[in-house]
Amino acid sequence: MLEKITNLAHEIIASEISDSSELEAFRLKYLSKKGIISELFDEFRNVPSELKREVGRKLNELKQNAQEKYNTYKGTIGAAEDRSGVNDLTRPAYPFPSGSRHPISIVRREIIDIFSRIGFVVSEGPEIEDDNHVFSKLNFAPEHPARDMQDTFYIYRNSVEDSNPDDILLRTHTSSVQVRVMEKQKPPIRTISPGRVFRNEAISARAHCIFHQIEGLYIDENVSFADLKQTLLYFARELYGKDIRIRLRPSYFPFTEPSAEMDVSCNLCGGKGCNVCKYTGWLEVLGCGMVHPNVLEACNIDSKKYTGFAFGMGIERAAMLKYQVNDLRLYFENDMRFLEQFRSAF
Ligand code: DAH
Repeated sequence: MLEKITNLAHEIIASEISDSSELEAFRLKYLSKKGIISELFDEFRNVPSELKREVGRKLNELKQNAQEKYNTYKGTIGAAEDRSGVNDLTRPAYPFPSGSRHPISIVRREIIDIFSRIGFVVSEGPEIEDDNHVFSKLNFAPEHPARDMQDTFYIYRNSVEDSNPDDILLRTHTSSVQVRVMEKQKPPIRTISPGRVFRNEAISARAHCIFHQIEGLYIDENVSFADLKQTLLYFARELYGKDIRIRLRPSYFPFTEPSAEMDVSCNLCGGKGCNVCKYTGWLEVLGCGMVHPNVLEACNIDSKKYTGFAFGMGIERAAMLKYQVNDLRLYFENDMRFLEQFRSAF
């Protein structure tokens, strides 16, 4: 038996394997259930007990060597024969999915691009703000309802009864960045400020407690309402298409005077009236106006010398109109089936 094993060991070492059929023959001959090594294990039962130890060790060694030889050749032969497939090092790489931008990012980048073409630069401010930048310096009266706990997430209030310029809160609009820019820069100022804002609202298809806005600010000598209107018309045409019409309705904001809201003609029904525009033919997209002299003065800008306009819009709102996706919650759920539908150059 020992002799048999030794001979077989030599035979295995000497056997040549050059392709997969020879490899398979090797496996059948030595390693399969009916192979030689298996037979030897059967014979092992008859080995006298004083030899069992040595024979057993040799037999196991033999099996291990055969298995190792098989494994080594399987690796190299398999790879060589697969050159045209997975192991072809000259094969171009498989493409991997590159993802897509979030619709809010697409629209934000598009709006920034539109305004940067007419000289607006991007500026940003903090999301955790003080009352001074969000309300006081924007000419909100101390008892203005927007400061109410029901709208504003407060982080620190000096007094439960009265508002205080030092109160710390989550900004409820990006208009706070206007103040930050005007405090630091001298006119001419031409800036847009995209960012997240927070309001204490119940979440529904039409409202969310977190959303995004873009604020615009233009301060220089002799800036007029006509400049505002023309800038907004340019913007609406670039974002919604050349055929879009705009209208400005008188409105009220503490930080602008006069103030207006801008509507664009409904891009679904072309202005004829449908359920999206509630049969008015118009959709409200932003608030705007001439910066209130009190706001300029609060930021140390001479309101006799300089005038300016400001505007603010919701990015979700712009995205809703552009993509006709009318449930706000979809923008926050990160459902891949929704997100994968947005592909864009931006
Ligand atoms: N801050 C306003 C809001 O959140 C939007 C707004 C209106 C911004 C008029 C402005 C503006 O700059 O002039 O509803």
